[in-house]
Amino acid sequence: MQHESGGDGAVEIKVRDHGPYKVTGPVRIVDADGGVFEVEAGRPVALCRCGQSQTKPFCDASHRDVGFESCVRAARS
Ligand code: FES
Repeated sequence: MQHESGGDGAVEIKVRDHGPYKVTGPVRIVDADGGVFEVEAGRPVALCRCGQSQTKPFCDASHRDVGFESCVRAARS
């Protein structure tokens, strides 16, 4: 199965304005006890960045309801 990634095979984590982290690439998300969250292979996942999701660690779009605001940019040289 082919996985979408950042283009060079690396996992890409995109910080979305006012929203979640969009993770693209083959990833395994593991809880503190070692349990593995089921993630459909080859599909990007959105991880909550606002802390309000009822389905953590995944985003459930609650960031919209609470007016989460964050636009971060990487420093450019
Ligand atoms: S970022 Fe979407 S619910 Fe938290």
